[in-house]
Amino acid sequence: MPLLSRRRMLAGTSAAALAAALPSRLLAAEAPIAELRPGPGRARLEGPGRAAADLWLFNDQCPGPLLRLKRGVRQTVRVTNELDEPTTVHWHGLRIDNAMDGVPDLTQAPIPPGGSFDYSLTPPDSGSFWYHSHYKGAVQMDRGLYGPLIVEDDSPLDVDLDRMVTLDDWRLTEDSTLDTAGYGNVRERAHGGRFGNVLTVNGREQEILPVPAEGWARLRLLNAANARVLPLTLSGADAWIAAKDGLTTRLTGLGAEPLLLAPAQRLDLLVRTGAPGSSAALNFVSPQETLTLLTLAVGDTLAPERTPTLTPATLPEPDRRDPLRVPLPMQGGAMGGLEGARYKGQAMPLRELARQHGLVWALAGDAGMPEKPLFSVPRGRTVELGMANLTGWDHGMHVHGHHFRVVEWSHRPPLTDGWHDTVLLRPRESVIAAFVADNPGKWLIHCHMMEHHAGGMVTWFEVT
Ligand code: C2O
Ligand code: CU
Repeated sequence: MPLLSRRRMLAGTSAAALAAALPSRLLAAEAPIAELRPGPGRARLEGPGRAAADLWLFNDQCPGPLLRLKRGVRQTVRVTNELDEPTTVHWHGLRIDNAMDGVPDLTQAPIPPGGSFDYSLTPPDSGSFWYHSHYKGAVQMDRGLYGPLIVEDDSPLDVDLDRMVTLDDWRLTEDSTLDTAGYGNVRERAHGGRFGNVLTVNGREQEILPVPAEGWARLRLLNAANARVLPLTLSGADAWIAAKDGLTTRLTGLGAEPLLLAPAQRLDLLVRTGAPGSSAALNFVSPQETLTLLTLAVGDTLAPERTPTLTPATLPEPDRRDPLRVPLPMQGGAMGGLEGARYKGQAMPLRELARQHGLVWALAGDAGMPEKPLFSVPRGRTVELGMANLTGWDHGMHVHGHHFRVVEWSHRPPLTDGWHDTVLLRPRESVIAAFVADNPGKWLIHCHMMEHHAGGMVTWFEVT
């Protein structure tokens, strides 16, 4: 269960009292296991000595409360909108019913201020996920409307420490408040997106976690930033990748290069803790600086002897013999040389798209949501999505409702292991993302750099 604030507990009590007075016919829907209240909130992102920033948060928590769902069980999360504008919630990476996917106008009407919506979720996969606003995400997510979500397995990985590590960068002013001046800036959209100047770990500047010696820690990394790709290293201990985008993989050791975590991606690391008194650290590394984000401080006690074992997630394997091949050229942005694109079916020069609609990117020739789907595919058929980054910028491409395998990669060997819901394409790279389209409904494909999404990098497909 997520943490409940006093106010929420009181609300729960009165709801129960109210329920007692209602005829049972109205109570048929299952009781929510949690309630999320997106609304104004505050957090001291730079620590106790500094001013609190005015944010928009779930249940006044930054990040939002950790939701724990059980795999394969139908559970309801109620969202009650306490903002002054509409919102929706998307359950990133959960392969759930289309009607619960939280995409405004495509899968549901936005939840108006004061309104509420019951999301009924039956997650088929265990692992590390997250939820976030999907309404004007570039602003609502930047202001803090997101939170971590774990789907529990019947037999969890046996470790001494299991920790969600939610990372975000915030753009703060000198007085530690949120800099909101740049929202909607088309120039920024056409470049890398909105980068912050303060990096937080679970809403704080850094975390220090005590761990026993010679034990195991599972760190569930999540990049919740709008646009920043995070180069990360783990120093001072042996570590393995245990899951990507939520789904367990074979254990693979970390290479010498920093891990690149794109916005929305998750990476679970399994860390072997060292001798008493030693420490391990998760670091953000850039050419200018190395920041320690999280420290595992090894204590004097020895962990109980155990070997965590992991079963890689099994999903239907794409059948590559006769797939539906869909090219997905990604175009536009600053210095991208794109002259024009379609907007709601009409060809328009890029200058006009930018000036009138703030659109500067295109997917397969369309800037912004096209009226017709990019493709329509009968349920059960394999799709091979040929994403080609023809721009000079990084993009973290996300497919809703499905996890895919990266079966071909222009500049690197394909990933033979692991399932993904978001893949990072560096400039000029292309990949083939293959998946079985087994979830009926209307699903988005978009760049998870939120300013790129707002600037036109979004399309959709239909599984019939
Ligand atoms: Cu994480 Cu379309 O979303
Ligand atoms: Cu992008």
